[in-house]
Amino acid sequence: MAAASVDRKPFMQFMVFTDKMSDGVASIDHQHARLVAIINQLYALVLKHDKATSLEKVFDELAAYTEQHFEHEETLFAANGYPKLEEHRAHHEEFRRRLAEYRDRIGGRNDTILAADILHVLKQWLTAHIATDDKEACRHLNERGIR
Ligand SMILES: [Fe+2]
Ligand SMILES: [Fe+2]
Repeated sequence: MAAASVDRKPFMQFMVFTDKMSDGVASIDHQHARLVAIINQLYALVLKHDKATSLEKVFDELAAYTEQHFEHEETLFAANGYPKLEEHRAHHEEFRRRLAEYRDRIGGRNDTILAADILHVLKQWLTAHIATDDKEACRHLNERGIR
């Protein structure tokens, strides 16, 4: 029996951006949803053992969009006098470092098992950061009328 004929379960999203993950600032929520979508795209590649689209390329897309998102948050928080900006920046910096390290580890190897492990770590980090650091900063923005 050909492996390709194996019946697959309906595709489930690896990460779901739910209403509960909303931090109450539209531009930030929108970008978080996009980050979740890119992570799902990576996971779909891993599940399909897709060799045609390189993991490295989508990883680069994730890193580029993460950079854009962090810059957006930091600019917005700075412009609104967020008192814990430096701490928040340091957490972003740590995530940047991790992303760069993971990308190096994935390299041109397209190692799907390693990629799956990495995606679980990224999911945990992002979920926790959105629920704690970003939520707190967005509350500060909400108090200044930004939604
Ligand atoms: Fe953040
Ligand atoms: Fe964020």
